Amino acid sequence: MGIAVSPQIHPQVADFIEKPRKMLINGKWVSSISGKTFPTYNPATGEVLAQVAEGDRQDIEEAVKAARKAFDQGPWRRMTASERGRLIWKLADLLEAHTEEFGYLESLDNGKPLAIAKAADVPLAVDLFRYMAGWATKIEGNTIPISVPYTPGAKYLAYTLREPVGVAGQVIPWNFPLLMAAWKLGPALACGCTVVLKPAEQTPLSALRLGELVMEAGFPEGVVNIVPGYGETAGAALAAHPDVDKIAFTGSTEVGKLIVHAATGNLKKVSLELGGKSPNVVYKDADLESAIPGAASAIFFNHGQCCCAGSRLYIEKPVFDRVVEGVADYAKKINVGSGLDPQTEMGPLVSAEQLSRVCGYLESGFSEGATAIAGGHKKGDKGYFVEPTVLVNTREDMKVVQEEIFGPVVTAMPFSDPEEILPRANNSEYGLAAAVWTQDIGKAHRTAEHLRAGTVWINCYNIFDAALPFGGYKQSGWGREMGHDVLNNYTQTKAICTKIA
Ligand code: NAI
Ligand code: MG
Repeated sequence: MGIAVSPQIHPQVADFIEKPRKMLINGKWVSSISGKTFPTYNPATGEVLAQVAEGDRQDIEEAVKAARKAFDQGPWRRMTASERGRLIWKLADLLEAHTEEFGYLESLDNGKPLAIAKAADVPLAVDLFRYMAGWATKIEGNTIPISVPYTPGAKYLAYTLREPVGVAGQVIPWNFPLLMAAWKLGPALACGCTVVLKPAEQTPLSALRLGELVMEAGFPEGVVNIVPGYGETAGAALAAHPDVDKIAFTGSTEVGKLIVHAATGNLKKVSLELGGKSPNVVYKDADLESAIPGAASAIFFNHGQCCCAGSRLYIEKPVFDRVVEGVADYAKKINVGSGLDPQTEMGPLVSAEQLSRVCGYLESGFSEGATAIAGGHKKGDKGYFVEPTVLVNTREDMKVVQEEIFGPVVTAMPFSDPEEILPRANNSEYGLAAAVWTQDIGKAHRTAEHLRAGTVWINCYNIFDAALPFGGYKQSGWGREMGHDVLNNYTQTKAICTKIA
């Protein structure tokens, strides 16, 4: 079923995609109960890359059963925190040792340039696992002095425990397939949860390969279950399942709301990392040498398929022409091609659906009066390529300014009064990220304080670290990924009170 193996493809990857990939349930690789498989495509060519077992409600049922048993009865809960941490660290080591292979897999399945997958996606995932491995032994409660006014004279010893929330369902997207799996698995495992992970149907391969490393590292059976399949079937079944204690989701705001509804049956805990339409503010006193390439990479990194993409570029009037032309020049010079070609700086979009969504936004922008000073069109007729695009003559009420495009399309707009920029920057239903470029340190921090976003970058963009919490204000989500904040997503507090006198 695999593609004709080109000599370019890493040999282990060629082997991996040759046979239909199975799903991981209770430590075993199994076919779907229905026997169905689904194709995953190479976005650079539109050809089928591999066949994958198609999980649905029945497979989710089995996976949840395994995760439930592993949580309630398995050796996992009896392990020390140190043992759990060592397993996660071992997984990080194994992943790092396979950097080359995972880079290829990610590039083939998602379309991103191989060099970027190897330099960013894989090392960030490795680092996240190491950071979370360290947390396993540091998840602590408190001792609390209590007074209890209605029991005069009595004495109590009161303390809290941070306990794992239980079985975690995790539904992830296709823009950073491996990294999103790491962001989800790392903290859940550090906290002692068991997991059913559903990768995106567009990009299931790296999570499945990671599942093999999970078993090689020695995690007990049932602790990590991976069920590939479609959102409407497998994803929805996981979100609604009564034996799942917590659901963590990254993806569209639209589906985030469906997840919330699905979770009401058993009121499972919910964390969401959703869309964005992040403002990127360039003041006239910015160092333009760094602001121009910074603004370009804010939108073009990962082909604009980033929830935190700097898609609304606000530029102070005196420097508008210079910045916008600089970003457009940058866009025109980007080498767009197959992710495996070493010359490529930007690959294809992930899917035909995403290509038509992005092209639909371009048409809508043009019909409402926007103009492209770079790009503006689909590129070529094979694969899902679109030109890096800079739109001007846009207004705040246009769809291209209000809605998440999730492609390499930036709207550039001038502002004249620094007072006007904050309400405009905050004029969005989203609040995931924002950035400000200026050499005035006071202005930078005042602006940062007033931007309603979960992350604000000053004189930089797209800086991520396992230690830095990430997540959304407003309709960009609930809860935080990474940092110590994420431990709140996977633990709950138990208060214990003992009468000692
Ligand atoms: P999506 O939200 O439909 O997909 C994300 C994940 O949710 C996938 O694993 C999918 O199978 C699953 N899913 C879909 N429907 C579900 C349901 N009813 N119940 C449970 N799980 C479900 O996103 P899609 O359709 O791939 O992309 C649409 C738009 O969403 C993009 O254009 C972009 O604007 C946004 N998006 C945002 C992402 C982010 O990182 N915040 C990532 C991917 C997409
Ligand atoms: Mg969808």
